Amino acid sequence: MSNKKLIVGNWKMNLTVHESSLYLHKLGGALKAHRSVEVVLAPSMLAVQSMSLQVERKLFKLASQNLFWKDEGAYTGEVSAHMLRGLVSYAIIGHSERRHIFGEHDKDVRNKVQAAVRHGITPILCVGETAHERAAKETTGVLHDQIVGGLANLTADEVAELVIAYEPVWAIGTGDNALPADVERAAHIIRRQVEHLYGRETAAAVRVLYGGSVSSQNASSYLAITAIDGLLVGGASLKVKEFEAIVEAAFAAGKR
Ligand code: PGA
Repeated sequence: MSNKKLIVGNWKMNLTVHESSLYLHKLGGALKAHRSVEVVLAPSMLAVQSMSLQVERKLFKLASQNLFWKDEGAYTGEVSAHMLRGLVSYAIIGHSERRHIFGEHDKDVRNKVQAAVRHGITPILCVGETAHERAAKETTGVLHDQIVGGLANLTADEVAELVIAYEPVWAIGTGDNALPADVERAAHIIRRQVEHLYGRETAAAVRVLYGGSVSSQNASSYLAITAIDGLLVGGASLKVKEFEAIVEAAFAAGKR
């Protein structure tokens, strides 16, 4: 757990290279006042390179929304961690859209996490239950499996550097954001699981984010949770003003 809040904007398959550049121009000024918040943007793969040239690294960092674990070879359409090295600081891995639309399993997620770590890219490992699993009261088991499956073969030191995003699938893009009490409970389940695997120090060090219909209206309620280090923001990160307001909320939460 860190005092410096981490706010990640996941643009998904939105914004052209040109629109991404315009966005950065608008956002830059607003962020100068909030250096105590770590701001990360995850643009499309196509915009990563141009944004990496434009980004004022002290103000914000870049993440990829995905990566492939092999360094190179006959893998049509993929971009490797090796290629992203030096361009991004973080990589979102195992997002529920990757798991459910593109059929990624824990084994793929694990390989991607390891490739990111190998190339000095911090993984943002996404975990979370579906509406069906939630109704069946399977959240704890799902989080357990996704954490055990995603983190296998890492050392405690590597896990301590990691970010884990709790993103209940039913809350993503639906406007049906999770209750802060449920998010707090999930954050504790995640930390307990990490503690069980890697010890207390690692569990305290790992950063845990909440994601799922975060907006400027509800951001503060999650940022007030001690076990939560920040937010993974989808739709609301596409609007500069809305994203700025969320960064502002993180700044205010960090001061408390
Ligand atoms: P949302 O997406 O904020 O649009 O719900 C969050 C995410 O998928 O990371």
